[in-house]
Amino acid sequence: MLSEWFMSILIVGAQGMLGSDLLEHLNDTYGVKGTDKEDFDITDRTETCKAIAEIQPDWVINTAAYTQVDRCEEDSKLAFEVNAAGAANLAMACKAVQARLLHVSTDYVFDGSSRTPYREDDPVNPLSVYGKSKVQGESAVRTILDDFVIVRTAGLYGRRGTNFVNTIRRMAQERDELSVVNDQWVSPTYTVDLSRAIGMLLRVSARGLFHVVNSGSCTWHQFARTIVELTGGRSTVIPISSCQLNRPAARPAFSVLGCRKYTELTGKELRPWEEALTEYLSLR
Ligand SMILES: NC(=O)c1ccc[n+]([C@@H]2O[C@H](COP(=O)([O-])OP(=O)(O)OC[C@H]3O[C@@H](n4cnc5c(N)ncnc54)[C@H](OP(=O)(O)O)[C@@H]3O)[C@@H](O)[C@H]2O)c1
Repeated sequence: MLSEWFMSILIVGAQGMLGSDLLEHLNDTYGVKGTDKEDFDITDRTETCKAIAEIQPDWVINTAAYTQVDRCEEDSKLAFEVNAAGAANLAMACKAVQARLLHVSTDYVFDGSSRTPYREDDPVNPLSVYGKSKVQGESAVRTILDDFVIVRTAGLYGRRGTNFVNTIRRMAQERDELSVVNDQWVSPTYTVDLSRAIGMLLRVSARGLFHVVNSGSCTWHQFARTIVELTGGRSTVIPISSCQLNRPAARPAFSVLGCRKYTELTGKELRPWEEALTEYLSLR
């Protein structure tokens, strides 16, 4: 195993919400480089292989994805190009230079019919184009590489980009009422906590598939109500059903991820989502 100090890491999608926090967090310990679409496009296999061969990283962390779940329904070609073919291209590029790949995936690989937190070996059954494209990405990584890490996470918020927390906080200052779905359960997850957990997985030289989310769970309505309370917003948060919202992509009703495998390997558990959210909001 390489000493941490000599390990070089390439973060792909480094301008995104998770990628930017990962870059900052891992920079303290490793030699880290970040790339995004303008450096190389992961849908272009030749460009991707060439870039990885030039950089020669020990690890590649793939946070690049087409993450707009509803838009993926209209533009499934792009969703599969980025989330499935892009992941496959990165896996091939890693194989060629013997770099290890940590690939980030999603709770939307599940259909939400479970009533207990999903385990890593539970069968996938995505409901949306986004979920299907991410399942294909996971499969490509597993097929191409003997040695990989896949991290499934959920309900991300962080400093960069548009996310649920920032949107609710802003709208709660402007509106008297906000309607939010109360029939979808999730584990909201702070990108800083996820970055620390990914750092931990690298440190212990993890292999295989892991679920990593902040502890606990809530409905999106409960999540929104907590954000409004913590930020002193004036909105009343009205519970509605997913049918009332009628969004293009179907979401799982229950996509809480069980993280026992992560805890068994590292001896750690991510803090409760309420605690992470409180810290995030206090810093902004
Ligand atoms: N956000 C969530 O709630 C959530 C939940 C579960 C899992 N995840 C997973 O977590 C990971 C990170 O999500 P995130 O929310 O941080 O994503 P994000 O903010 O949308 O960032 C993704 C980054 O990838 C870049 N990218 C897109 N297409 C690319 C391409 N063809 N080549 C190179 N770079 C490309 C994007 O650039 P542009 O912005 O210019 O397109 C963006 O900078 C993804 O794998 C996602 O599926 C996210």
